[in-house]
Amino acid sequence: MKSKFFTESLLILDFGGQYSKLIARRIRELGVYSEIIPYNTPLTKILALKDIKGIVFSGGPSVVTAKDAPSIDPGIFKLGIPILGICYGQQLTAHLLGGKVRKGNDREYGKTTLRIDGNSLLFKGVKKSIVCWMSHTYFVSGLPRGFTVSARTRTCPAAAFEDRTNKIYGVQFHPEVMHTEQGPKILKNFLYLICGFKGDWRMGDYAKEQIKVLKSSLKGGKAICALSGGVDSAVSAYLVKKAVGNALHAVLVDHGLMRKNEADEVYDLFKNTLGFNIVKIDASERFLKKLKGIADPEKKRKIIGTEFIRVFEEYAKSIDALDYLIQGTIYPDVIESGTESAAKIKSHHNVGGLPKDMLFMHIIEPLRDLFKDEVRRLGRSIGMPEALVRRQPFPGPGLAVRIIGEITEEKVRILQEADFILRDEIRKARLENSIWQYFAVLTNLRSVGVMGDERTYFYTIAVRAVTSVDGMTADWAKIPHNVLEKISSRIVNNVPKVNRVVYDITAKPPSTIEWE
Ligand code: XMP
Repeated sequence: MKSKFFTESLLILDFGGQYSKLIARRIRELGVYSEIIPYNTPLTKILALKDIKGIVFSGGPSVVTAKDAPSIDPGIFKLGIPILGICYGQQLTAHLLGGKVRKGNDREYGKTTLRIDGNSLLFKGVKKSIVCWMSHTYFVSGLPRGFTVSARTRTCPAAAFEDRTNKIYGVQFHPEVMHTEQGPKILKNFLYLICGFKGDWRMGDYAKEQIKVLKSSLKGGKAICALSGGVDSAVSAYLVKKAVGNALHAVLVDHGLMRKNEADEVYDLFKNTLGFNIVKIDASERFLKKLKGIADPEKKRKIIGTEFIRVFEEYAKSIDALDYLIQGTIYPDVIESGTESAAKIKSHHNVGGLPKDMLFMHIIEPLRDLFKDEVRRLGRSIGMPEALVRRQPFPGPGLAVRIIGEITEEKVRILQEADFILRDEIRKARLENSIWQYFAVLTNLRSVGVMGDERTYFYTIAVRAVTSVDGMTADWAKIPHNVLEKISSRIVNNVPKVNRVVYDITAKPPSTIEWE
């Protein structure tokens, strides 16, 4: 993509690896614009791109010697642009340049020790021995002419190799994964010492670029978006508003499953403080009716996704705005809803939970490549108020995925009250900014208690609070006991039909953040 906002970029040729977006993200973090393109993009097209100062070959699930293994035009090695092959990318480099790749005895998966030899620029300033992350069965067993080994592991004699003269590098391990010690340093060396990037890319550029693209692709049409009070929908709406102003129609569908007072608060903030063209539609009865008797989490998600879109479509039709639907989908939603290569965890509302027969002509997802913390940075870079950028993530299906089993009006009220108390106590303890997400869950479990002299048989509320960087993995938050105590006693004393509060102490994985 040619851009006037930055002058240099890096291409990631995607061979189907699960970490391709993560490579792009790490490179963005290092101040360099990167673009992911399919491995089979013709060389002529690559040559037509200007200002490419480096190329990365991603990993991938194939075996280079297989008949239809994804490959590239070997002419790419003659362009004079530095190349870094990662995992499959390294093996492909070896294979195409006359080296050997062979199957190891076992699949090597996880952390292993990398020993660095010599004085490779790739490892400048990196310790001689580091922990790195591996995920492979095949490995480079013979070097192409002109290559030398720069690092090895117990099972990989060429865990890193290079042709210094032609600036072609390859690593079997994954420097982009957090578990690789000094991984960012290795990537930085590639970018700055080997490719010679200046590092002139900032998140604000991404915003400018997106606004420019949105302006031209939404030209003349009406765009419509849903606002839920969560960060993603807010940032994508704000971005689109910057591009097309009041051609963006924001809709707050109150499905009756929002947090206490949230529908009114969100409406007021967007309408009066931010000047959005917004309407609020109360559809709670309609949703509750559809959800009656449904206990299966995936069914609930699908029903809500479908109903949401139907309410939306009715409104969009009424104002003749069926051209563009703006969605706040972010990259982890895409991954967790299942892609061709990744398994499905749950149908995220703005991806897998939507019906296939939507009336909208186009779906626009300006945040689809970003991780949650990047979305927040993007929000800041376009001047969104801090209070909005810092809002907790809130799932599209709302409290429905925090009420285990069938949803009833009474259960929604119980959960809203308990959640309100929890949020109030976290705020009073000034913990809001150190916890990624905190909320109450209404378990479907009832147990025996005693209140006054009476036996009770009431619900159990679970408190879920986690710390995380991007929502992909999370740890349970170590909330001080006195705060937990206050939360628990306020909930059982004030919320009818609750006599027990438990604290969820599981990480993600193996759990997920939401209970359904
Ligand atoms: P899980 O429960 O999958 O959640 O660990 C990861 C993050 O995603 C949020 N989440 C959703 N966000 N639509 C959304 O926009 C959804 O359907 C959805 N489900 C979960 C969740 O709150 C957490 O931040």
